[in-house]
Amino acid sequence: MARVLVTRRLPDGGIDPLLAAGHDVVVGHDDDRPLAPDELRDAMPDVDAVVCLLTDRIDESVIRAGRPRLKVVANVAVGYDNIDVAAATEAGVVVCNTPGVLDETTADLAFLLILAASRLASEAEADLRAGRWLGWGVNQYLGRDVHGATLGLVGNGRIGSAVARRATGFGMQVLHHTRSDTGLPGWRADLDEMLTESDIVSLHVPLSDATRHLIDRRRLGLLRPTAVLVNTARGPIVDEEALAEALEEGRLFAAGLDVFEREPEVHPRLLAAPRTVLVPHIGSASVATRTRMARLACEGAVAVLNGEQPPNLVRRQD
Ligand code: GLV
Repeated sequence: MARVLVTRRLPDGGIDPLLAAGHDVVVGHDDDRPLAPDELRDAMPDVDAVVCLLTDRIDESVIRAGRPRLKVVANVAVGYDNIDVAAATEAGVVVCNTPGVLDETTADLAFLLILAASRLASEAEADLRAGRWLGWGVNQYLGRDVHGATLGLVGNGRIGSAVARRATGFGMQVLHHTRSDTGLPGWRADLDEMLTESDIVSLHVPLSDATRHLIDRRRLGLLRPTAVLVNTARGPIVDEEALAEALEEGRLFAAGLDVFEREPEVHPRLLAAPRTVLVPHIGSASVATRTRMARLACEGAVAVLNGEQPPNLVRRQD
């Protein structure tokens, strides 16, 4: 029997794989508070496995604190930029994540943002709730059509492809940019070229050194003033300050954001920016999907504790 730290309370049934395998499970705080960095480090020496969330920073010091007992870190998220995978690999600690179980739910949310931002839903609703809507007007809340528009996907992995399938139903032309040729129709080798061609751009790449501020001031300048930008990937992929400026100056029509550079802080200029739909990192937030994610992460931990290679193993990217 191993001892497993689950850093935060998971959805009901989420830790069942750990319990079924007979492991001793310790859960962080009783409420939904994350463990503070020193609480996390202090808990590490006494556990064989950690099931963590994207709000936990599993850096080299945390991995070091877990040595020599720690065998696996299982992230209840598909993105794993919160984990120092290189340090874990050096220390012989396996990392796993939750690929494949959240694609459709996250694509639904990306589409919600595409629609809501293009049709100015947040501004219109805010006006209505605040009593500022004084009656129907032919020139009110004029958005951009989603049907028939050209959608540029940055990244074409599982989530990007799920967004593309939805876009087809809306009669959209779908382009995608990836570094290597997918061989699929709509592939654009040059990101800049795709940005100039797109009415709506949706981001679906992981956060890495190569994608930090991929959408910077210069690339925001390539977008059409009628374009809509949607980010359900990771906040730091976009330069938020430059995005706020583009929205304020009308150089970009609208933005829909689920993720932010310094979560849970949201850039004050983005909060005040016009034509902006902001939601608090809820891409995968459905009961079924969050439960599947929790179970998959726990199953990965169980596999490693059994001496097996988990299917959801994260490999170090060199
Ligand atoms: C959520 O953002 C995830 O990476 O699963």
